[in-house]
Amino acid sequence: MARLDPHSQTDLGQPHQKHLSWKAEVDFAGRTLRGTATLRFDRGGSPVDLDSRGLVIESVTAVDGGPLRFELGSPEPILGERLRVDLPPGVDTCVIRYRTGADASALQWLEREQTAGGKAPFLYSQCQAIHARSVVPLQDTPRLRITYEAELTVPAALRALMAAAFVDREVRGDRAVERYRMDEPIPPYLFAFAVGDLEFRDLGPRSRVWAEPSVVGRAAHEFASVDRMLTSAEALFGPYPWGRFDLLVLPPSFPYGGMENPRLTFLTPTLLTGDRSLVSVVAHELSHSWTGNLVSNASAEDFWLNEGFTVFAERRILEVLEGPEMVALHAAVGRQALDEAVANFRDRPQLTRLRTRLQGVDPDDAFSQVPYEKGFLFLRALEDAVGRPAFDGFLRRYMETFRFQSVTTEELLDLVRTELPGALEAVDAPRWIDGEGVPPGAPVARSSRLEQVEALKAQVPPPAAKDWSPWEWQVYLNHLPRPSPAELMTELDERFHLTRAANPEVLVAWLTVAIRSGHVPAVRRAEELLGEVGRMKYLKPLYAALIAGPGTRPLADACARRYRMRYHVIAAAGVDSLLRKGA
Ligand code: BES
Ligand code: ZN
Repeated sequence: MARLDPHSQTDLGQPHQKHLSWKAEVDFAGRTLRGTATLRFDRGGSPVDLDSRGLVIESVTAVDGGPLRFELGSPEPILGERLRVDLPPGVDTCVIRYRTGADASALQWLEREQTAGGKAPFLYSQCQAIHARSVVPLQDTPRLRITYEAELTVPAALRALMAAAFVDREVRGDRAVERYRMDEPIPPYLFAFAVGDLEFRDLGPRSRVWAEPSVVGRAAHEFASVDRMLTSAEALFGPYPWGRFDLLVLPPSFPYGGMENPRLTFLTPTLLTGDRSLVSVVAHELSHSWTGNLVSNASAEDFWLNEGFTVFAERRILEVLEGPEMVALHAAVGRQALDEAVANFRDRPQLTRLRTRLQGVDPDDAFSQVPYEKGFLFLRALEDAVGRPAFDGFLRRYMETFRFQSVTTEELLDLVRTELPGALEAVDAPRWIDGEGVPPGAPVARSSRLEQVEALKAQVPPPAAKDWSPWEWQVYLNHLPRPSPAELMTELDERFHLTRAANPEVLVAWLTVAIRSGHVPAVRRAEELLGEVGRMKYLKPLYAALIAGPGTRPLADACARRYRMRYHVIAAAGVDSLLRKGA
């Protein structure tokens, strides 16, 4: 058997999925989806192993209704249950009727109180890396792409959105049926939808932003630059391949900053600072339209191919929009996060390689800034070695060669060998790819603004720092020793009001050092924040600081107990694992 993705039951020697026709009825009261998945494969005449997690399978039939033999395995850690379906000769399609389980790992069901409007419940999915299987049975590996059409039945007062092309909406009494189709083949982790009280504002000819009515105006203001981002991304990679680029702002419990679902990027509302200072997240998700969605990592072991290339592209777009000084500041903050991630993995240094071995490892546990920032630095090193024009040409070739395919690290390296001869040797690529930590001689960001901030070390910044960008503040705060003297914390807070910072990146950078230094107002603010947002990038450092801070460990446990139910399953699991480790 040829199982190549350690996170899927898929056997590549069996038939390959091609097209999904999905119908689902959303039951908010029962917190379940009643679904029918009609899966077409490239051939029949063989058993086929699908991934599923927590699904209740009601029947498996051929298109004509005749029953097909199937067998649902017992739950395996990380993978879920194997659903084996027998496709007789000449039968290439099966129809699976099922219900989703009570804690489907891809779904978050929100009570109306957990939304901005407070009037309607909300449901959204987050399938990357291996959660699609908790929503629909399929071969849940990015090696096998599908096209799909979908029909969602929801309460008529709500909208159903999918990361696909809208077809139509039909109201039938108190229910509405919304239809979508995705004609470009996608890896299953990009299957996505959301249901709620949603409105949109147009941002440009190819984009609009969706959000709850009380949020949508602020969102349209924040993301006004999206059209210029599209233009600079196309200059780098060629024509945008997905038609539209729409945005959806989710409720605050969304566990990520952004998720690059095709045609409809999902975003955290914590980006809505009012000053457009966090739009690089949109540039990042937009870049995934090429690096990730058009050319996809073959498995979570090659995740750096998605994220490293995307951070590289994100910073190129940022260079056009905001200039090289800002890029240097972003890269410096990225480097700090990378060093911290490497330090956090001191017990599992294998996870600091670009190419990882994840047999028996949950991709959510392996997640870190390493594939992002170490991947970025490796690509920067290659760019330095061959020059920007040659490297840009290579990026285009990479996109053309693997368009709508998935790619392994080895296949990428093979392409570099032919297209940029000598480049891998010049940067000592094996040290980056299969070596641990950050190679000495990795590119270092340089800029005068950065040097001014770094020169301060732990001194109180001058009054002019009130005009610093959030990135300068992060560089400064992340450099401070933990713990720092209590007097320094008090003075910084009095002068710059950091406990009330509007930018969540600055706020969390501040709170983590201030909590470790016993600054009481920071502890109070963290307690509040942990009940308001579910973005893992903020939850994890805040809980870690409370676990490590003087006398704040009990508060970490209390907050987790109090707020856990508000977090997405993935985020709650991340918090649990921190508390276990810290115990
Ligand atoms: N694709 C990721 C989010 C993700 C990764 C979800 C792995 C599930 C598993 C997304 O593109 C991302 O990287 N988001 C970042 C923002 C970005 C600017 C670095 C985030 O959420 O912080
Ligand atoms: Zn990303």
